[in-house]
Amino acid sequence: MVKSLKIVVTGASGFIAKNLRKYLSEKNVDLISISRNNFKDFKCETKIISKNYDEKNILKKIRNSDAIIHLVGIGKQSINEDYDVINTDLTKHIVNLSKKGKIKKIIYLSGLGVSPNTSLGYFISKYNAERLVINSGLDFTIFRPSYIIGKDDLFSKHLKKQMKSGEIKIPGSGKYSIQPILISDVVKVIFESTYQPKFNNKIVDLVGPDYVPFEKYVKLFSKGVKTKIRKINLEDAYHDAIINSKSDFGIDDLNILIGDFKGDHKKLSKISEIKFQSVLELLQTGRLL
Ligand SMILES: NC(=O)c1ccc[n+]([C@@H]2O[C@H](COP(=O)([O-])OP(=O)(O)OC[C@H]3O[C@@H](n4cnc5c(N)ncnc54)[C@H](OP(=O)(O)O)[C@@H]3O)[C@@H](O)[C@H]2O)c1
Repeated sequence: MVKSLKIVVTGASGFIAKNLRKYLSEKNVDLISISRNNFKDFKCETKIISKNYDEKNILKKIRNSDAIIHLVGIGKQSINEDYDVINTDLTKHIVNLSKKGKIKKIIYLSGLGVSPNTSLGYFISKYNAERLVINSGLDFTIFRPSYIIGKDDLFSKHLKKQMKSGEIKIPGSGKYSIQPILISDVVKVIFESTYQPKFNNKIVDLVGPDYVPFEKYVKLFSKGVKTKIRKINLEDAYHDAIINSKSDFGIDDLNILIGDFKGDHKKLSKISEIKFQSVLELLQTGRLL
């Protein structure tokens, strides 16, 4: 088994972080978790509460850790939070802290669709964050996830909320595809990447074995539940996203869906040697949520 690892997690109250911290704690990792607000800690976990990740509060505690897993990120902008500040500048700060603290490795969660050819502000902020991680001089792994599915993920929550209201909306044709991956598999892969050198200095798509049209996914997700599925005009969906900060789909939710990005599951499978569960199969057999 692996020697006891000291691992730092940022954005500790987020969806991936909560699931990951639980998993790492069960693996007896010496865990240091940072969040802006107070949260319930797990076994072997040191809590750091910090609004702005200030060095004074953090550096001493994270020094000489084996890895830092940077999970802070936003997928929707507002006048208070923009992509450059949160996705890029905060990553720069975390990279600097990691270097000062002599942390051996940084693991960053980017996004499926990030590429040097992108013109989307969301992806550009993630691309720039990736460059900072790559140029840090530290060992790194960058993951580019598609939709991560679990008990409390945002994507499923959004579909469940619509189901409750009696109608699920599909923007446009619904023919664009997604590549869902289960959170229980995601936490295993991220953990492996903290100590297995084969993950070092690689960019890996974090995508499941199914590449499935959104409409098909929605139908399976709502199987057995009395709810309507309605295609809505894409122009109307974008209009709502532009003028209404509480719209069902944010601008970049739509951009990412319509982007129809496909990741390399084979590469992930090969490097991790994990047998990934099919989200579709779980939906078909009613075992998902
Ligand atoms: N879940 C997915 O399907 C998915 C897909 C693609 C990419 N990703 C990426 O994976 C990472 C984690 O995703 P997630 O699903 O766990 O997201 P999440 O639940 O929204 O968690 C992100 C965390 O970021 C921190 N954060 C947000 N705004 C902040 C701010 N202004 N200052 C400091 N910290 C802030 C918060 O942590 P605290 O509240 O603890 O401070 C928040 O809980 C993100 O970078 C996301 O873009 C996720």
